[in-house]
Order: sequence, then C-alpha cells, then structure tokens
Amino acid sequence: MKMEWFAIIICLYAGVASARTEEDQQTSSSTSISGISGGLLEQCFYQESSECPDVKTTGCSCKKITLAHNNPEGNAVLCCNLNIQNFESELSCTGFPSNISYIHIRNATLDVFNVSEIRWRRLKSLAITDGRIKRVKGQFRMMTPTICLNLSNNALIEVENNSLTRLAQLTTLDLSYNNLTHLPALNTMNGREFWLDISGTNTLWCHDIYQYINKTGEKQINFNRENETVCSASKTWHWFNTTEQVPLKQVRYLSLLQTECPKGDAWQCQCNFRRFDIVEGKPPTLAVNVDCSGIQITELPEKLPRNTIALNVSYNNITTLDDLSNNPCYEDIREFYADYNNISSINKLEGSKFLDNYALLSLRYNKIKSF
Ligand SMILES: *[C@@H]1O[C@H](CO)[C@@H](O)[C@H](O)[C@H]1NC(C)=O
Ligand SMILES: *[C@@H]1O[C@H](CO)[C@@H](O)[C@H](O)[C@H]1NC(C)=O
Ligand SMILES: *[C@@H]1O[C@H](CO)[C@@H](O)[C@H](O)[C@H]1NC(C)=O
Ligand SMILES: *[C@@H]1O[C@H](CO)[C@@H](O)[C@H](O)[C@H]1NC(C)=O
Ligand SMILES: *[C@@H]1O[C@H](CO)[C@@H](O)[C@H](O)[C@H]1NC(C)=O
Ligand SMILES: *[C@@H]1O[C@H](CO)[C@@H](O)[C@H](O)[C@H]1NC(C)=O
Ligand SMILES: *[C@@H]1O[C@H](CO)[C@@H](O)[C@H](O)[C@H]1NC(C)=O
Ligand SMILES: *[C@@H]1O[C@H](CO)[C@@H](O)[C@H](O)[C@H]1NC(C)=O
Ligand SMILES: *[C@@H]1O[C@H](CO)[C@@H](O)[C@H](O)[C@H]1NC(C)=O
Ligand SMILES: *[C@@H]1O[C@H](CO)[C@@H](O)[C@H](O)[C@H]1NC(C)=O
Ligand SMILES: *[C@@H]1O[C@H](CO)[C@@H](O)[C@H](O)[C@H]1NC(C)=O
Ligand SMILES: *[C@@H]1O[C@H](CO)[C@@H](O)[C@H](O)[C@H]1NC(C)=O
Repeated sequence: MKMEWFAIIICLYAGVASARTEEDQQTSSSTSISGISGGLLEQCFYQESSECPDVKTTGCSCKKITLAHNNPEGNAVLCCNLNIQNFESELSCTGFPSNISYIHIRNATLDVFNVSEIRWRRLKSLAITDGRIKRVKGQFRMMTPTICLNLSNNALIEVENNSLTRLAQLTTLDLSYNNLTHLPALNTMNGREFWLDISGTNTLWCHDIYQYINKTGEKQINFNRENETVCSASKTWHWFNTTEQVPLKQVRYLSLLQTECPKGDAWQCQCNFRRFDIVEGKPPTLAVNVDCSGIQITELPEKLPRNTIALNVSYNNITTLDDLSNNPCYEDIREFYADYNNISSINKLEGSKFLDNYALLSLRYNKIKSF
C-alpha cells in the first residue's frame, strides 16, 4: 500500500536544551569578522569654539584664516553663531567665497542648509557643526572639489537623498550626532577610500547602512568609531526583531550571512538570524534559520551558513535526505522541514548524528514507503 503522506513530529526539548548550550560555546569561538575600525579618517578644517571671533571688537561673526601664504587657495573661514538673518552679511565680511577653500561654521541655526547655492562650489572642506540645522536640501554642483564634509551635531532630521551624489572627491563624511533616519546616497565610485561617521546618529535605519557594507565591486566604506555606532532596525526590517538598536557590528554579521546563504543559478534561499546574542566581552552567539522552501530544487543545498540550526526545504522536488546524515554543513541542524517533496525513503537517517540531536523533523506529504 502506498502511503500518501507521512508525518513525524517529535520534540525532544529536554535533550536539546543542553545540547544547544554546548553548541553555542563551541561555535562562538569559530566565528569572527574582519571589521575595519580605527581613527584614521581625515579631519575637515576645524576650529574650537575658543577661536570664535569676538564680534564686539571685529564687528563680524566670521574671520578669515590664512593657512598657506602665496596660495590663493590657502584661505579658510571660521564663523560662529550664524542664523538665517545674519548668514549672508557675516559671510561676506570675509570676502567669502572668493579665494576661500575651507570653512567651518559653528552653531548655525537654520531650517534649511541649501547645498545647491553657488557659494559652496569651490570648497575643499566644509564643516557646519554644533548647531541646529533641520534639513540639508538641494544638490552640490558638478565638479565641487569637496573632500571632507562635516555635518556633525546639528540635530539634522533630513539630508535629501541626492544632495551628495555629485561629490565625486568626497572621502570623509561626518554625520555623527544627528537625528537622521535615512542615509543620503553616496558617490562611492572611482574606488576611493571612504570614511563615514554615523556614531551618535542612532535613528539611522540599519537597512540604509547595510546596503553600503560589503558592496561588491566597490571599495569598502570605513566606519569611524564603529564600536560606538548603533542603528535602528525598523519593524519592517525583519532581520532583528528582538532589538530596536543594533550595533553596527551585527549589521556586518548580517552582511556576511547573506554571502554564505545558499544560492544557485535559478534559486536563492533566505537566511536569517534566529538568535543573535551579544554578551559584552564575549564573541557573539549565532543561530541561523535557512529557508529554501518552494524554489524548485531537487537536491538539498550543498553548503549552508555556519551555525544553521533550522532548514526549511518544503514545497520542492527533493528525493533524498542523504546530506542530512553525511554533509558536515548539516551538523548543527535541529529542525528540519521537508513537507511536500518527493522523498521516498529515510533509511539513510538511521543511526545518523541528526537523529541523535534533532528537535523537529517534518516530512508530511512525501512518498515515504518504508521506515
Ligand atoms: C573595537 O572593538 C574591538 C573588539 O570588540 C577591539 O578589538 C577594537 O580595538 C575596538 N576598536 C576601537 C577603535 O575601539
Ligand atoms: C566634525 O565635527 C565634530 C563636532 O564638532 C568633531 O568632533 C569631529 O571631529 C569633526 N569631524 C571631522 C571629520 O572633522
Ligand atoms: C584672490 O587671489 C588672487 C590671486 O592671489 C588675487 O588677485 C585676488 O585679489 C584675490 N581675491 C580676493 C577677493 O581676495
Ligand atoms: C548659538 O547661537 C545662538 C544665536 O544664533 C546663541 O543665542 C547661542 O548662545 C549660541 N550658542 C553658543 C553655545 O554659543
Ligand atoms: C537652493 O538654492 C538654489 C540655487 O541658489 C535655488 O534654485 C533653490 O530654489 C534653493 N532651494 C531651496 C530649498 O531653498
Ligand atoms: C534629536 O535626538 C536627540 C537625542 O536622541 C533628542 O534629545 C532630540 O530631542 C532630537 N531632536 C530632534 C529635533 O528630533
Ligand atoms: C536614493 O538614491 C539611490 C541612488 O540614486 C537610490 O538607489 C535609492 O533608491 C534612493 N533612495 C530613496 C529613498 O529615494
Ligand atoms: C565581504 O564579502 C566577502 C565575500 O563576498 C566575505 O568573504 C568577507 O568576509 C565580507 N567582509 C565583511 C567585512 O563582511
Ligand atoms: C521574530 O518574531 C517572530 C514572530 O513574532 C518570531 O517567531 C521569531 O522567532 C522572531 N525572530 C527573532 C530573531 O527573534
Ligand atoms: C516552511 O516553508 C513553507 C513554505 O514557505 C511555510 O508554509 C512553512 O510555514 C515553513 N515552515 C516553517 C516551520 O517555517
Ligand atoms: C516537481 O517536478 C515536476 C515535474 O518536473 C514539476 O511539474 C513540479 O512543478 C515540480 N514541483 C516543485 C514544487 O518544484
Ligand atoms: C519522484 O520520485 C520518483 C521516484 O521515487 C521519480 O520516479 C519521479 O520522477 C520523481 N518526481 C519528480 C517530480 O522528481
């Protein structure tokens, strides 16, 4: 008699609990990442607040600073406490933008900082920090030679997506200590080094950052103060649903996980963290779920990410479960779902390591005749 469906769902939770603690300890030491962090980023032209001009004696909130004599491009400007009313007049008392390549504006209070304006067109370094600027709007002009842009500590809530896309020479971007939720598009072409500081901007969506981690074909983005950087995992981004604030390091792991996720020419599995525990001072503990359901595969994937504990291959045309007993990538699997396949025998599983350790095996709607 042909059996139309067959189901085994066996739970051995007591046995698994102790097995898992062991697994975690042993796998945690084998997982490492090559995070880049350091303090190597180039500083923008920057002056302390003690250097601010004394308006009572000079009559201007800005002052010109000569960095290199006999060089028309060797001039800088420092401005302090600007607002929408005095912005124009104070800048012009230094002759800005003529022959000025560097500027630092401290404590500016503006609703909008418009980067389309022609006066920003020749700057090598632009720092507008420690103030209150709600939004950066417009787009820097073509050929703007800015290498370093510092918008730190302004409670910024928005930088328009395309504002920085023409800054083809930008290598340092400091967006730290702001209230941004979206990272503007970055021009990372030309394979140049790129430093980004988003520490203290905890509102930034991890998803936006994730797109810049390990982008193939382009130079890596270096995150300054990576250890202190966290981002927000929105509820619609399902990778980390336990925490809202995710350390940047974990976003890196996620990126690594995606590169290890099984894929073929016409199919691709989905990989997710089931658990991701970081205990201070210890390497993180990972447990990965892999979902290869309904992608028309006829064999189990040959490779799985490290620490895969659950695999779902339901709704495929898989005929054999050999990998489950003899492929080392399947060693950590505790839950295996292969409903709606074409499996006719599970004899091979007898005496395998999998049968000793598993918590859940589901083989409903297959063609199993013998057991
Ligand atoms: C970041 O943390 C790692 C280990 O957690 C440490 O080795 C590294 O030195 C730290 N980097 C900085 C810049 O603090
Ligand atoms: C940007 O400005 C902040 C705040 O004043 C400062 O701490 C930081 O070092 C500056 N960053 C760069 C890249 O110059
Ligand atoms: C800019 O520099 C050039 C060359 O040194 C000089 O002739 C010119 O007067 C300068 N312009 C201003 C506004 O200082
Ligand atoms: C910042 O500028 C505003 C005026 O725009 C001024 O009232 C305030 O005292 C300044 N803050 C600092 C720290 O200088
Ligand atoms: C920004 O400046 C450009 C050029 O001066 C102007 O055309 C544009 O309307 C300004 N945008 C905003 C939002 O003020
Ligand atoms: C920006 O974020 C800081 C710190 O999280 C918060 O105290 C402040 O109210 C926020 N400001 C705005 C304008 O959202
Ligand atoms: C921002 O710009 C990039 C590159 O042009 C684009 O891929 C991305 O979808 C844009 N994001 C938004 C929110 O418009
Ligand atoms: C970047 O991706 C490559 C594979 O494409 C991987 O070997 C490497 O470890 C990844 N690096 C980081 C930092 O995620
Ligand atoms: C995410 O939430 C879902 C449903 O609330 C739950 O089944 C799943 O285990 C959670 N994943 C993680 C990584 O916590
Ligand atoms: C396995 O995948 C199928 C098809 O996507 C889904 O219906 C089922 O709920 C999954 N099983 C588990 C345990 O996640
Ligand atoms: C299984 O294979 C049959 C015949 O090749 C095909 O018609 C069917 O769509 C496949 N089913 C799945 C779930 O891949
Ligand atoms: C299902 O398995 C049987 C043998 O057990 C085989 O004859 C048949 O071609 C398989 N069907 C598919 C769609 O792979």
